[in-house]
Amino acid sequence: MTPPESPTRPLTLSERLANIRQASNLSFPAAAEDASAREFAFCAADFERVRKLIYDKAGISLTSAKQDMVYSRLARRLRVTGMKSFGQYLDNLEFSRGAAEWEGFINALTTNLTSFFREPHHFPLLAQYLREVAAKRKQINIWCCAASTGEEPYSIAITAADCLPGGGQQVSVVCSDLDTSVLATAEKGEYAADRVEKIPPEQLKRYFSKGATPTGDIYSVKPELRRMLSFRRINLLDPVWPVRGPLDVIFCRNVMIYFDKPTQYKILARFAPMLQPDGRLFAGHSESFLHAVDLFHSLGKTVYALAAKRG
Ligand SMILES: C[S@@+](CC[C@H](N)C(=O)[O-])C[C@H]1O[C@@H](n2cnc3c(N)ncnc32)[C@H](O)[C@@H]1O
Repeated sequence: MTPPESPTRPLTLSERLANIRQASNLSFPAAAEDASAREFAFCAADFERVRKLIYDKAGISLTSAKQDMVYSRLARRLRVTGMKSFGQYLDNLEFSRGAAEWEGFINALTTNLTSFFREPHHFPLLAQYLREVAAKRKQINIWCCAASTGEEPYSIAITAADCLPGGGQQVSVVCSDLDTSVLATAEKGEYAADRVEKIPPEQLKRYFSKGATPTGDIYSVKPELRRMLSFRRINLLDPVWPVRGPLDVIFCRNVMIYFDKPTQYKILARFAPMLQPDGRLFAGHSESFLHAVDLFHSLGKTVYALAAKRG
């Protein structure tokens, strides 16, 4: 409960913010109220600078609501790099020649939430499509372009191995991400027990070996599954993508939401010529490409095919 107001006591910062919020019905990020308790000063200009840098480097659009998140993630980088203020950290990032910190900065600001068989409705659709394609083509090429820690591309590989004769030997899955640390986890292919809960027991047994560590069981992807995958760091903003087409399937799920519409369109315009004429693009549940109907048309359930007439 708010303490009764004393006419003699000056209002604290959080009380003043609460009053302004009440008066204007605005929602302030919680962090603004705790700003005085922060280890490093973080002003609006610092946030604007971060916002511009990550947009230019990775296409990620940060709304003002992300100030708190940006502070806590980058405060860790300040500590690691021994910087005394956000200004010093960002100057070092921008103006030091060959600043090695770009990787740390980008990795800190990406959001990597993922899981095995996330958005499960996609996997039977993928299986059906792969069976059709396997009857027509000897080699099937898939690009999972925001692979995060690997749960998504391994789910794709499990689906292919299960639905195709010969265990999906003809399938190759390129797994890429901008963030080098999640990609290293993906390449390692080892997951704690709570991460593999969504994998049906039979598939878990078939495609993973169980090992014990002092902190609990660990599940490692078996070599027959892993050999379908290759890993590389790719920024979707880069002018060249080291991925060879034609591709049968592109998985680009839950990454476009971080980009603005013009950036999304540019990426979609580059995906289109890489796909086979009957190829498929799988998007995330909240991603719609209605602004790119000249490039892709929806088949429902956030699966897309090439538009009949591309301009
Ligand atoms: C929320 S995760 C989605 C992971 C997975 N696709 C899924 O749906 O479960 C978003 C991923 O996109 C990656 N990402 C963000 N910006 C990127 C960019 N410009 N190029 C490539 N990957 C990017 C992040 O590093 C992160 O791992």
